[in-house]
Amino acid sequence: MTHFDIVRVDPSDGPLVQSWLAAQEAVHAHDFPGLRPWTPFGALAGLVVHDPDNRREKWAAVCDGEVLGYLNLHLSDRDNSHLANFEAGVAPGSRRRGIGSALLRHAEERAAEDGRTTVSTWLAVPHEDSPDVRGDGGPFLVDNGYQRSLEAAVRVCELAAVDDEALDALRDEAERHASGFRLVAFHGVPPEDLIDGMAYLHARMYTDMPLGDWDLQEARITADTVRDWERQRTQRGQLNIQTVAVHQESGDVAGFTEIQVQSGDERHCLQGNTIVDPRFRGHRLGTVLKIANQRRLASMRPWMRYVWTGNAESNTQMIAINESVGYRLAGHETVFQKKLS
Ligand SMILES: CC(C)(COP(=O)(O)OP(=O)(O)OC[C@H]1O[C@@H](n2cnc3c(N)ncnc32)[C@H](O)[C@@H]1OP(=O)(O)O)[C@@H](O)C(=O)NCCC(=O)NCCS
Repeated sequence: MTHFDIVRVDPSDGPLVQSWLAAQEAVHAHDFPGLRPWTPFGALAGLVVHDPDNRREKWAAVCDGEVLGYLNLHLSDRDNSHLANFEAGVAPGSRRRGIGSALLRHAEERAAEDGRTTVSTWLAVPHEDSPDVRGDGGPFLVDNGYQRSLEAAVRVCELAAVDDEALDALRDEAERHASGFRLVAFHGVPPEDLIDGMAYLHARMYTDMPLGDWDLQEARITADTVRDWERQRTQRGQLNIQTVAVHQESGDVAGFTEIQVQSGDERHCLQGNTIVDPRFRGHRLGTVLKIANQRRLASMRPWMRYVWTGNAESNTQMIAINESVGYRLAGHETVFQKKLS
């Protein structure tokens, strides 16, 4: 049994922060190769960028000044105040010495102290589609009373491998079903005339996405929430590239999609939300939006190589659209969840 203390990561403690970053990098390289590479920017920004709706507690298991394990705990206050999300990892050379168990116990204790009744974590799991992903976390979580509550697939689009002519043909065919709508492209804060409609659809993501047994509940998202998300993205060095479909007759936001680029990472970026309002489904807007935003990404970031996305395995419509615009299967993730008694 190694002696260690679990401490809050103090952003002003330079050596601790460096060791904390190194532990996270080591876990990602060891356990999740072949998936989107880990970068330090999100972790660093998470230490200091203020999110008024979502407290982010960063904890570390420390022995003689060295971080052996980490726990990132997310406590949302705007909605889902029954739920705590976390991710935890132990440096590969320090496993099976009780550090993971201590961090997990700490997560559950902090969640309970904060009045949370459910704890959950997203974890990449081994699969024949991603043979290099290790599987230490699943058995560990199941041993500790966690249940698999949502199965998701990870896909990646290698932009240089997409057949542009085939994409043109797909877009032309889709646009034949999408008359009466116009596209608006922008990055950062949405234009004033679209922001309420976008907030409405961001909220629908919580209710329209297949969630399996994951206990994520509805959320109230306003224009101010969306503005604040963009303030945080600016401070995190993230560019949010968005395309919106507007119903021309009513001016309503019919759907949107977004891709997030992290500064300092010129090869890998992330697909964010995509949604079409149920009133406007059946016009191939999902396909039109995805192609338009993918091309806007290519024009804004011509050297970008990969776009990553995750979907519930049961979200067959979104997966079919993703595959048609060039995404291929790269791995699998599971949401593990536990109800605290
Ligand atoms: C999962 C992880 C956090 C476990 O950390 P750890 O410090 O090795 O865990 P512990 O030493 O506290 O393990 C306690 C018990 O969990 C179970 N366990 C841990 N790793 C396991 C594995 N690979 N396979 C099966 N059971 C495992 C065992 O019952 C173990 O007891 P034992 O060593 O006496 O057999 C670590 O492997 C890790 O960082 N993995 C990558 C990230 C990850 O998967 N995180 C999951 C939580 S979000």
